[in-house]
Amino acid sequence: MTPGVALSRPAILAVSKLPPFLLEPLQTAYVVHERLHETDPAAFAKAASGIRAVVGGGESKVSRTLMDQLPVLEMVSIFGVGYDGVDVATALERRIPVTHTPGVLNDEVADLAIGLMLSVARCIPQADRYVRAGRWAREGAMPLSRKVSGARLGIVGLGRIGQAIASRAEAFGMSIAYTARNAKPGVAYSFFPTAQALAAQVDFLIVITPGGAGTRHLINAEVLQALGSGGYLINVARGSVVDEAALVQALQQGVIAGAGLDVFEKEPHVPEALWALDNVVLTPHIASGTRQTRQAMADLAAANLAAHFAGRPLLSPVPEWA
Ligand code: NAP
Ligand code: 8YV
Repeated sequence: MTPGVALSRPAILAVSKLPPFLLEPLQTAYVVHERLHETDPAAFAKAASGIRAVVGGGESKVSRTLMDQLPVLEMVSIFGVGYDGVDVATALERRIPVTHTPGVLNDEVADLAIGLMLSVARCIPQADRYVRAGRWAREGAMPLSRKVSGARLGIVGLGRIGQAIASRAEAFGMSIAYTARNAKPGVAYSFFPTAQALAAQVDFLIVITPGGAGTRHLINAEVLQALGSGGYLINVARGSVVDEAALVQALQQGVIAGAGLDVFEKEPHVPEALWALDNVVLTPHIASGTRQTRQAMADLAAANLAAHFAGRPLLSPVPEWA
């Protein structure tokens, strides 16, 4: 190998807009093509034959079509725990490892799930708007809200984040039940085999499964009906897990009491029908979005790339690869 080749930085493609605390360190170690496939197809066509890794966020798409355009692709590093946008079957077929950032964001996502539950039940954003609009002085006290402490919580997906949500809910004295693909041995919470059976038994239903084909519209009209007119839905998983049209209808018709939503089917587009409703609290996919946690995710995503290019074991490959 010539010295020039030995010193050259590997070329990588960023498929989403990366934060500076991830992009800048990557730029010192790699030639980073920032969303070149979207911004400049002609330049991408020239660069593609040398791109050795792809880096993207939890909601990024890494399709077979994209991988087919990258003949020397060696790995995909996802800055996020969810990797439902990556065609993992194609990656496996081509022996391309995929990594993600599990664990480091559990606390943050669990905190936001609890925050959304409290916000929607206690009408915190509505109360803030009430004060700012001068309605307290003009109209008097606000209508009463719903108690969270001691209520019944159902968790759809009792994985890393689901368990972090459950431990917080215990401190609120909530009774906890869950559904998942399999009951968890050694877990004392009640297990229900389906989301519908779980929904029928709880006041709050928090959804925290992966996205993708296996969970598409797991929360449908029947599940919302089972949750009932006193029930609240919180979704911090992926927009695809909830049938959004059915949810809008359920909220409009009082089939459920309210919803707290961090994720949507067609992000960043949120149905205007949801903007118009007063019984929902909406956040723009911010569950892991603190400086501290995004830094930890960035460090892990970069460390996976570094491990790969140094020939060391990957720190956090996706389960299909490990
Ligand atoms: P995890 O540890 O893999 O847990 C996933 C849980 O979902 C497991 O309990 C699993 O059941 C369950 N599950 C999977 N498919 C299911 C199905 N068809 N029906 C019912 N349950 C099912 O994952 P995690 O680290 O907790 O992360 C979960 C997801 O949260 C991520 O994949 C991502 O989509 C989302 N997330 C969102 C944000 C955000 O910003 N809003 C941030 C981080 C993560 P088993 O245990 O039985 O396999
Ligand atoms: C991030 C996420 O918003 O981890 C995930 O699966 O959806 C979020 O933590 C995302 O990965 C940042 O791009």
